Amino acid sequence: MQHSLSEIQEVVLSQVRPKPADRTRIEKTSTAIITRVEKLASEHGLHLQAMLVGSAARGTWLSGDHDLDIFLAVPPEEDLAAALDIARIAAQDYEEKYAEHAYIHARMDGFEVDLVPCYLVDDAAHLKSAVDRTPFHTRYLSRKITGKEDDVLLLKQFMKGVNVYGSELKVGGFSGYLTELLVLCYGSFVEVLQAASSWRPGKRLDLEGHGAGKHSDPLIVIDPVDPKRNVAAALTLDKMLQFAVAARSFLAGPKLDFFFPQPLPPLSDEELIAELDCRATMPILLEFSAPDVVEDVLYPQLRKAESSIKALLERNGFCLLRSDVSTYRDRAVMLFEMQVWQLSKASRREGPPAWEAEHTARFLAAHPSPLSGPYICDGKMVVEEARQYTSARELLSCQIENLSLGKHLCASIREGHNIYVGQELLGIKDDGFRSFLAHYFCAKLHIG
Ligand code: UTP
Ligand code: MN
Repeated sequence: MQHSLSEIQEVVLSQVRPKPADRTRIEKTSTAIITRVEKLASEHGLHLQAMLVGSAARGTWLSGDHDLDIFLAVPPEEDLAAALDIARIAAQDYEEKYAEHAYIHARMDGFEVDLVPCYLVDDAAHLKSAVDRTPFHTRYLSRKITGKEDDVLLLKQFMKGVNVYGSELKVGGFSGYLTELLVLCYGSFVEVLQAASSWRPGKRLDLEGHGAGKHSDPLIVIDPVDPKRNVAAALTLDKMLQFAVAARSFLAGPKLDFFFPQPLPPLSDEELIAELDCRATMPILLEFSAPDVVEDVLYPQLRKAESSIKALLERNGFCLLRSDVSTYRDRAVMLFEMQVWQLSKASRREGPPAWEAEHTARFLAAHPSPLSGPYICDGKMVVEEARQYTSARELLSCQIENLSLGKHLCASIREGHNIYVGQELLGIKDDGFRSFLAHYFCAKLHIG
């Protein structure tokens, strides 16, 4: 059934707009935590101001999200470690996490609560750490966003649906704060989509007219509270354009699927066999235990390792179609889909132009026992010699431990890894892994 744009927005809002009961609960819980933390702090003689920040403070959280961001601000001359101690006492069920500095991730009252120590600075020009900006964001948005909360919710859900929401490095998409600034800048959800439809790399938005500032990111949104910072610094070129293309096709044919796409089921054995049959490429999978570090540390390492391995394969004459990385449970995987995975034993080595006496002599000395040659072809010295590795699998399994793959990955891979080729992939039954394969083979933009 065809729905109008405004009908779709109403349906989406009825699902993502927090209910009055949710609001009351979030208010009660956050007030209770804030009171408790401040009381504990004063008992310990620490001057500390706790505050709710993020989307919960602004009425812009998606219904069903149970995430509270509470900042523990201490005067600049105090120690953040003291605030962290208070957070540890206040939260009972928690784990410590580390972004720029340590914070506490706790479960309290059915909420996932981040207790983040920061400095209480009077002016955004005097930030001591990156998180000190956050209270300024809340102050900047709190009045301005009033009345536009629904537009923010629509934009966040749309971005979730088309898989571009979240500024964590694994995603490289839009942060919550960025979606709110986009709504302020363009006026409404639909106006954001209209504008984004014609974005090009290098697009720049400067809500407060701060001017200048050197940034070379694909999208530049000058932080209203800190002119030196690009709020969209974590957004990748591809996620930016994925959003632009989705916006364009949504406006051309609005559908609810953009917001709530059908999830791709994990690939069954039969489906995996069928994919391998019809593509007739050769998947090579490297699998090992995921190092115990946060995703923001793990994913950049996985991607770096992925490109080192790609370079190794290509340097040795093999040819890739595509590759990707993923994690499921406590495992990490890198998938290399090969177009050419088997090569002849004989390979051709082109040397210098034959008139360059010195270079030619050195080339011949370096290749003393060729299978054929040396001969001259198009003026160059050429030999044909035996390749060390004729299969991509063999190359990978012999050379993997010689690559420098980043501290955490190196250790993990040395401890143990598996290589699966072709139908051997059928041996991994895990649903998380099979979903990754489903997405890998589909590789289709989420555009309804
Ligand atoms: P969150 O990631 O929780 O964002 O960061 P959010 O605005 O609350 O959005 P959702 O609804 O939970 O997804 C909390 C605050 O931290 C700052 C922002 O001020 C944000 O509001 N922050 C976070 C940034 O400035 N940049 C980031 O990349 C992430
Ligand atoms: Mn949040």
